[in-house]
Amino acid sequence: MTGIDAAAADAHPWWKHGVIYQIYPRSFQDSDGDGVGDLRGIRARLGHLEWLGIDAVWISPFYPSPMVDFGYDVTDHRGVDPRFGTLDDFDALVEDAHARGIRVILDYIPNHTSDQHPWFRESRRSRDDPRRDWYIWRDPAPDGGPPNNWLSAFGGSAWTLDEATGQYYLHSFLREQPDLNWRNPAVEAEMLEVIRFWMERGADGVRVDAVQKVIKDEALRDDPPNPDYHPGVDDPYDAQLRILSGDRPEVHDVIARMRRLTDAYPDRVLIGEIYNAIERLMAYYGHDGAGCHFPYNFQLIKLPWDARTIDEAVRGYESLLPPGAWPNWVLGNHDRHRVASRVGPAQARVAAMLLFTLRGTPTLYYGDEIGMRDVPIPPELVQDPWEKNLPGQGLGRDPERTPMQWDASPSAGFTTGEPWLPVAEDFARVNVAAQREDPASLLTLHRRLIALRQAEPALALGRWAPVDAEGAVLAYLREGEESRFLVALNLGEAPARLAGDWAGEVAISTHGEREGEAVRGTLELRGAEGVVVRLRA
Ligand code: GLC
Repeated sequence: MTGIDAAAADAHPWWKHGVIYQIYPRSFQDSDGDGVGDLRGIRARLGHLEWLGIDAVWISPFYPSPMVDFGYDVTDHRGVDPRFGTLDDFDALVEDAHARGIRVILDYIPNHTSDQHPWFRESRRSRDDPRRDWYIWRDPAPDGGPPNNWLSAFGGSAWTLDEATGQYYLHSFLREQPDLNWRNPAVEAEMLEVIRFWMERGADGVRVDAVQKVIKDEALRDDPPNPDYHPGVDDPYDAQLRILSGDRPEVHDVIARMRRLTDAYPDRVLIGEIYNAIERLMAYYGHDGAGCHFPYNFQLIKLPWDARTIDEAVRGYESLLPPGAWPNWVLGNHDRHRVASRVGPAQARVAAMLLFTLRGTPTLYYGDEIGMRDVPIPPELVQDPWEKNLPGQGLGRDPERTPMQWDASPSAGFTTGEPWLPVAEDFARVNVAAQREDPASLLTLHRRLIALRQAEPALALGRWAPVDAEGAVLAYLREGEESRFLVALNLGEAPARLAGDWAGEVAISTHGEREGEAVRGTLELRGAEGVVVRLRA
């Protein structure tokens, strides 16, 4: 918290000025040689995160699970899957992380359970089982088909017929992930207790999985067709506007109750995973602090890497934020292709500078700090059910979930066994150990950007203001009480310039050697260069 004084810290909790790092536990560090990462592995690698300057980790699910969706299909929301360790391992991880000043955010999966969860096993026993109404069951349509047109995110109908009881159950994701019925107060009460359980155990917050799905249209009306859908090009899931199968007004009441529970503990954070249009996303901040601390903002993942497009998106986002709402930015996660693959290695440096200099909490996906790329997965090694359901369409998520590349030893230091997904071929060169030693590496750049952000309240918490630029240049100001910075990023490969009467000096450049250089008048940028300029007062 260097640079941010105590008074500012009160007004600005850690989740505002901190940097969040997402860990996909299967792929971070294996401690027992089974080829799958685990909690002890994470604990052993906390030193890397502390060195990097990370303030919090968000750990994707480690709960008991048949792993059909790799942990997003939960059979016990209050346990640890033996593959990942034990509750004791969790406690030890939290203790060590806290000792290093690193908070621990958990993944909370309210919308569905595994079909192997005891609740669902009971629910499917008979139509009048007391647990029947814990999930969403309906009679077939008159033609025997599904009750409505809702789609599963992973392909096909969101309904599966249970032959034994003659009804369909709803699953917004895999058929092995039946949706809970949050309109049943007993379900809500039980699921809210899950948040309490982990907060009591020391968790610093939750990332709420697929939260907009939690409440569906009560009458189960069909979703309307999406007029912008391009058959054969777009993901078939986007054929409909999902405005009745989720994103219902009543979801905000549920989130308000999650928030109230979160706020009963000091310094905790509630983050919503919501893929939606920016205008609709804003509703998830809630009224009067009753919503998420922030709903994840995935624009940088979804938009083309084009300066004018991103400039417009940043301006739009900043202008739409409700009063008091805190922004956030994300470049990558376990569901989307790696940023270094999307934009290429040179622009990955520019992207890092963008992530750490925009206004709002940055979330960094494990491995992006060393420029890990999507790893091509041969068909016989495919793990992700999405790829299995819709092969060859580029939807599979295995490529961005491969083992963390720690060093040049076998399996990149991730495991002594056979890794669950192949390690990238370039691991001998692209790894933490090699990049730590290299002042020009992407890893070093990340560390320096994070350090600058944490040292400068203008960057961590200050105002943002747009700067008009042209062509491939994206520029903006960050302003605090004591300092002002110009950020200028060249999203193109050719040299470019930012006209203006600038006066200051380069604080950091993606190209390293320019630091301290005086800036006067027009700012010249090399191809794929980004600079942060400390402006003269
Ligand atoms: C979220 C997760 C994704 C998972 C899905 C179902 O979108 O990020 O990985 O498959 O929810 O739980």
